[in-house]
Amino acid sequence: MLNYLYGKFPNCNFYGSDIIPQSIQLAKEKTNDSIEYFVDDITKKNDTQLKCDVIISVGVFQIYEDINSLIQNYISRTNEDGYILIEGPFSEYGVDVNITYRDNKNTKSGLIDQGGWNVWSLMHLESQLKEIQEVESYEFIPVNFPDDLQIGYKKEDPLRSWTVNIDGKNKFVNALILQDHYIIKLKVSQ
Ligand SMILES: C[S@@+](CC[C@H](N)C(=O)[O-])C[C@H]1O[C@@H](n2cnc3c(N)ncnc32)[C@H](O)[C@@H]1O
Repeated sequence: MLNYLYGKFPNCNFYGSDIIPQSIQLAKEKTNDSIEYFVDDITKKNDTQLKCDVIISVGVFQIYEDINSLIQNYISRTNEDGYILIEGPFSEYGVDVNITYRDNKNTKSGLIDQGGWNVWSLMHLESQLKEIQEVESYEFIPVNFPDDLQIGYKKEDPLRSWTVNIDGKNKFVNALILQDHYIIKLKVSQ
């Protein structure tokens, strides 16, 4: 995604981060040299001098449970009048789901102890966002995947999502959930 964005906005500075150093190394090798990468833990407050105008987070939010702190941590990485875009599966039904599972083919511990696929409801998110002073406004933007985006089911990894047609819409599903993806767009003022 950073490569794509760099192609569209070559005059902007781009930074990429992840908690896993090996993923950062791989990203460095595969993307444009002008994109800067660093290891970062989004469950902690910003401990660098870097603040960005736009923070984009894809597929990370649903890993964690303390979403109020998580949003505060994104804000600590955002400039005064910045934006935060959080992409992932969310619930449209006012139901919050905290998932723990065991993938019997790929488990290391043998226990039902794998996570990372919580589904936060837009309703709960809204109540949290209203409590955060720095969030000036918010928007929930549904993600409609194009029909020609076709990803197949891989038997060996049932947690990896694949596409299905549901009522004429191209949706992602995996062994755990049928996913309604949203971009949570926050306008920050601090
Ligand atoms: C589902 S993947 C999404 C990766 C990428 N954003 C994408 O869309 O392809 C989740 C990513 O979140 C990273 N991650 C998990 N916990 C994190 C944390 N506390 N801080 C930063 N990154 C984290 C993982 O290492 C993993 O690369």
